[in-house]
Amino acid sequence: MRIGVLTSGGDAPGMNGCVRSVVKGAVGQGHTAIGIRRGYEGLLAGDASELSLDAVDGLSRYGGTRLGSARCKAMMTPAGLQRALDRIGEMALDALIVIGGNGSLTGAHALAPHTPARIVGVPASIDNDVGHSALAIGVDTAVNTIVDAADRISDTATAHHRVFVIEVMGRHCGFLAMRSGVAADADAILVPERKLTREQVIERCVAVLRASFRAGRHKERVLIVKAEGVEVPTAELVAELRGVVDAEMTGVDVRETVLGHIVRGGAPSALDRLIAARLGLAAVDAACRGLTDVMVGWEPPRGAGEPTRDPSVRTVRLAEVLVETERMLSADSELARARLALLDMADGLLAL
Ligand code: F6P
Repeated sequence: MRIGVLTSGGDAPGMNGCVRSVVKGAVGQGHTAIGIRRGYEGLLAGDASELSLDAVDGLSRYGGTRLGSARCKAMMTPAGLQRALDRIGEMALDALIVIGGNGSLTGAHALAPHTPARIVGVPASIDNDVGHSALAIGVDTAVNTIVDAADRISDTATAHHRVFVIEVMGRHCGFLAMRSGVAADADAILVPERKLTREQVIERCVAVLRASFRAGRHKERVLIVKAEGVEVPTAELVAELRGVVDAEMTGVDVRETVLGHIVRGGAPSALDRLIAARLGLAAVDAACRGLTDVMVGWEPPRGAGEPTRDPSVRTVRLAEVLVETERMLSADSELARARLALLDMADGLLAL
C-alpha cells in the first residue's frame, strides 16, 4: 500500500512523533509512506515525497511539525475538495492519514465517501475539542506549559502582591484553562462553557478579589486563568478589576499575561509522545484492515467506537466524532457536562 500522511491545522506537540509512528508502522509492514507537506495545502499542490525510516528517526522529541501545517480554506470549497481527490488518485494513495483537529477531521470526512483510498483521522490539537477522544495529541504538553508559565507568574505576583489574569489558548473550548488552572492553584478559572455574561464574569472575579484581600487575610497573589473563548476581552476585564482594586484595595495591582502561541510550542511531554506513537500505529492498522472514514480515538469516553489491538485506542466513525465535537463545544454533551461538574467541584479549591 501507499500510505500518505499529513499534519493539518494548528500544530500540536506530538505531531512529529505521530508521523514517525505512521512511517514505522507502514514501512515495518512492507508499505510505502508518503509525507505530504503543509497539510491539505500540500495535498492540493501535490507537494509530497516518500518518507524513509531514517527520515523520521528520533523525531518524537521535537515540537511543531516537520511536515509543516496549514489552515487550508480551499478544502472547504467543492473545487478544492475535487482537487484533493484528484491528487489522491494521481499519487496512487491507498490510504491517507490526517493528523489534526476539528477542521482537519471535517476535511477527512468530506473526502472519504468519494475515494477508494482509506481515510483515517488522528486527533491532534492543543484545544482538546475533538469528540470521542479523552485526549488529543498536544494537550498534555500545552497544559504543562501553561502550569509552568503560571508558576513563574505566581513567583513575581507573590513578590509584588499582584493579581494576574492569564489568558490561555483553546479557541472555543475551556479544557486547557480548566486543567491547568486547577494544577496551578488558580483562584478562579473562566471558561466559555459556563456561558456567563460579561457582567457575571466581572462579578465573579471581583468577588474573588474581595475575598482574597479582605481584612485579616494575608494572601499574596491572585491568579485568574481565563480561556481565550470567554467573550469578555482580557484587557477589558483587567481594566474593570483595576477600577475595583484602585478603589478598595491598597497596595494591590492587576496585570495580565496572554500566553498565546507559547502554549502551542515546545518539546512534547512523555504522555504526548506515547499517545502520538500509539495513535499513529493504530491509524496504520485501521487503514490496513480496510477501515475508512474513521478516527482513532484515545480512550474515548463511554467506550465509543470499536476496539483495536491497543487497549487505549478505539476506532470511531468520523461522522460520530464530528457530531460529538459539536455537542461538546455547545456544552451539550455528557462529557462537557462532566467536565463542568469537575470544575464546579474544583471551585471548592478556588477563591477561598
Ligand atoms: O486550534 C489551536 C489554536 O492554537 C487555538 O487554541 C487558537 O485559537 C488558534 O489555534 C490560533 O490559530 P492561529 O495560530 O492560526 O492564529
